[in-house]
Amino acid sequence: MKATAIAPSNIALVKYWGKKDEILRLPQNSSFSVNLDNLITQTTVEFSDDLRDDEVIFNGQESKNKERVLNHIGRIRQIAGIKTKTKVVTSNNFPAAAGIASSASGFAALTLAGAAAAKINLSEKELSVLARQGSGSACRSIPPGFVEWFAADKSEDSYAVSRFSARHWDICDIVAIVSNEKKDVPSTAGQKLAQTSPFFKTRIANIPQKIEKIKNCVAEKNFRLFGELIESEAMELHAIMLTSTPPLVYWNPETVKLIKFIENWRRQGLAAYCTIDAGPNLHIFTESQNAKILAENLASLSEVKQTIINRPAEGAKLSDRHLF
Ligand code: DP6
Repeated sequence: MKATAIAPSNIALVKYWGKKDEILRLPQNSSFSVNLDNLITQTTVEFSDDLRDDEVIFNGQESKNKERVLNHIGRIRQIAGIKTKTKVVTSNNFPAAAGIASSASGFAALTLAGAAAAKINLSEKELSVLARQGSGSACRSIPPGFVEWFAADKSEDSYAVSRFSARHWDICDIVAIVSNEKKDVPSTAGQKLAQTSPFFKTRIANIPQKIEKIKNCVAEKNFRLFGELIESEAMELHAIMLTSTPPLVYWNPETVKLIKFIENWRRQGLAAYCTIDAGPNLHIFTESQNAKILAENLASLSEVKQTIINRPAEGAKLSDRHLF
């Protein structure tokens, strides 16, 4: 009973921030994302009577997230009705210290590999519902390409579906790493504060319109409108964070410098727009023909420690390349 899965990370273009059910990870609002082909997690799960203890290995060492991983394995055990111990080995193709969230790719790969190892046959929708309970954003790494995750009151109604295939639009997301440090406030903790922002209700009321708009931009491949929308959405998310009690300041000086560089490049004719999650690093979108020049511009900045170039990716997949 051993299985391996590979799953991409995803970047939200309309963000998930705030839960209406902490335990089930039901979001306050629907969100929209694209899978990223160069931020990948590979995970092998085995259930076996021969194992004496549960073991969770991440990038060659005992995982710091062992408890959260085993909690998720517990959900799979319950569905499958199995009681055996488990071994989970997982690795990312990006440096662990890169300061990039890996819970989306991590819990998507764990869900698919775990379900296959437990021999439970789940649909894409059921896998997405299950992945969501490990980490909300992970439910969007199950289906391919550009993905919408529905907010709902019932667990079985809150899952993600593909809206456009990975090959629909040749755009590029360059991750610019300005800090390798682990963030002070993990997103699970930060999200609990969302509702303390006086602007949160307004944000939630406007989300359905925003999701319609972003879907139209992607459908029409209107890069300028797409860029303006994702950038203003990121600013709105950080406005919520900054006006929470206590305030959450995820940016550092380099983040702001890069926002200014990107504005400047745009004035010079390079169509590039950024989005930023719960951390200081930036995801900078451009159309593929401009990827090289954007990557060169970023590499020339002393503020940028590393860049990772991504294109839209497929969803989570099983693999026969086991990690043990
Ligand atoms: C800012 O999915 O990491 O990246 O459900 O608590 O695991 P949990 O939160 P998580 O939150 C992601 C927040 C975000 C926006 C997004 O990905 O939509």
